[in-house]
Amino acid sequence: MASTAKTVEAVISAAWGKPQSWTLDSYRSRGGYDGLKRALSMEPAAIIDEVKKSNLRGRGGAGFPTGMKWSFVPKDSPKPKYLAVNGDESEPGTFKDRYILENDPHMMLEGIAIASYALGVHTCYVYLRGEFKFQAERTQAAIDEAYKAGIFGKSLMGKEGFALDCFLVRGAGAYICGEETALLESLEGKKGWPRLKPPFPAVVGLFGCPTVVNNVETLASVPPILAKGADWYAKLGTDKSGGTHLVCLSGSVNRPGVYEVGMHTTILELIHDDKYGQGMPKGRKVKAVIPGGSSAPVLGADELDVALEFEALKMKQTMAGSGGVIVMDDATCMVRSLWRVARFYAEESCGQCTPCREGTPWQTRLLRKIEEGRAEMSDIDMLSNVASSIAPYPPIGLGNTICALGDAAALPTHSFLMRFRDEFEAHVREHRCPYGDHPWGSFGDWS
Ligand SMILES: Cc1cc2nc3c(=O)[nH]c(=O)nc-3n(C[C@H](O)[C@H](O)[C@H](O)COP(=O)(O)O)c2cc1C
Ligand code: SF4
Repeated sequence: MASTAKTVEAVISAAWGKPQSWTLDSYRSRGGYDGLKRALSMEPAAIIDEVKKSNLRGRGGAGFPTGMKWSFVPKDSPKPKYLAVNGDESEPGTFKDRYILENDPHMMLEGIAIASYALGVHTCYVYLRGEFKFQAERTQAAIDEAYKAGIFGKSLMGKEGFALDCFLVRGAGAYICGEETALLESLEGKKGWPRLKPPFPAVVGLFGCPTVVNNVETLASVPPILAKGADWYAKLGTDKSGGTHLVCLSGSVNRPGVYEVGMHTTILELIHDDKYGQGMPKGRKVKAVIPGGSSAPVLGADELDVALEFEALKMKQTMAGSGGVIVMDDATCMVRSLWRVARFYAEESCGQCTPCREGTPWQTRLLRKIEEGRAEMSDIDMLSNVASSIAPYPPIGLGNTICALGDAAALPTHSFLMRFRDEFEAHVREHRCPYGDHPWGSFGDWS
C-alpha cells in the first residue's frame, strides 16, 4: 500500500533520532519546560482541569482518563502525597516507553514536574524495568541535569517554597511489578504482591499515603498539553481520546517498530501503509492481530479495519492496552502461539489467588497437550472452563482475581478459542500440529 494514511503530527517522537535529543540543552532549544513555566503561573486545580479537558487517557494499559485520576487525590489530606512513574514495561509486544527514556527523557521529567505541582507532590519515584540498564543511565543523567539547572530540588524551577525530589528505582525482573499496587509494594521494599482494591492508590498508596501512578508515555504527553493548550491536544484525537499515541508494531510485517499514530489510525493502515509496517512478507497474508499487548483479546483478519483507539477496540471486545500490536500471518499456528502466551502468564503469576495460581499452569498443560496431538475434544472445553474460572469473557473486566494479571491470562484463551476453534479441533482430529515443525510463520523459530 502506498502512503494513504492521514499524516499525524508528532507530539511525543518529534525529536527522536536528532543529535543529543536526550540532553537538557536540546530539550530547551525545542521549547522544553515551557509547559512547566505556564503550569507554575496557574492554580493547581486549573492544571488538573486542563488535563481533563485534553482528554488524555493513560497509556499504561487501562486507558483511564488522566485528569480524572489526578482529581481523586484528596486535597485536604495531612499526609504527604507521592507520584510513582510506571516504567516497568514488561508486557510482551510493548516496547515504547524505553524509546522515550532513551531519546527524550526530559519530556517525561517535565510531565513529572507539572503533575507534582498540580497534585501537591514533593517526592516522585521513577520505577524502571530491571533490564533497562541503558535507559536507567540516560534517565538518571537527565534527572541530574534537572537538579543542576534548578528544575528539581529545593524550589521547583524557581518556585519558592515548592520542593520536588525525584528518585530512580530499578525493578528486579518481575512482570507483576508493573501492576500499580505491586509496584508500590516493591517501592516499599516488599515482594511485588498486588493489593486488594479499593482503596485505590490515589487515596491509600505508597507508605499508606495518597499516590498517583502514571505510565511514562502518559506523563511525557503532559508538557505539550500545558504548552499548547488542552483544545489543541483534544482536537488531535477523537471524541473521548485526546492526542496521538505510540504503538509498537511487531510480528509478521516488513517494517516493525515504534510509530506515533493518530487515534483514528486503523490496524490495516498500521500494517500496510508505507509510513508504518509496509505490508506483510512476500507471499504471506494476515491471519490474526493482537492489538494491545499480549493480554488483549486477538482479532481475526476480517476485523482489522478498526481504529487503534480505546473506544473503537472496546466495541470489538478487545483493548488498546499498552499499544503492542502483534501481527500473525497465515503460516502461524494459533495453538502454539496461545501456548507461548499462556506460559508467560503462568510464569509471572504471583500466586496469591487460586484461580490465577492454579489456572495459569493448567491452561499451559492443556495447550501443550493439544499442540502435541495428545488431546481429546473435551480438553478444548476444559481449557475454556479453566479460562472462565479465572475471568469470564465477554465483556472484559469480570475477573475473579485480585489483579488484572488473571484477566490478562484468560482473555487470550477465550478470544483464540472464539475465533480459531477450528484450528484447535484440527490438532485433536489429526493428532498432530498441522503446521509441523514450523509453527511460527514468518516470526522465526523462537520457541
Ligand atoms: C499485570 C500487570 C502489569 C502491568 N504492567 C504495566 C507496565 O509495565 N507499565 C504500565 O505503565 N502499566 C502497567 N500496568 C497497568 C498499571 O497497573 C496502571 O494501570 C498504570 O501504570 C496506570 O498508568 P496510566 O493511568 O498512566 O496508564 C500493568 C497492569 C497489570 C495488571
Ligand atoms: S491475579 Fe495472579 S498475579 Fe494477580 S494477585 Fe492474583 S495470583 Fe497474583
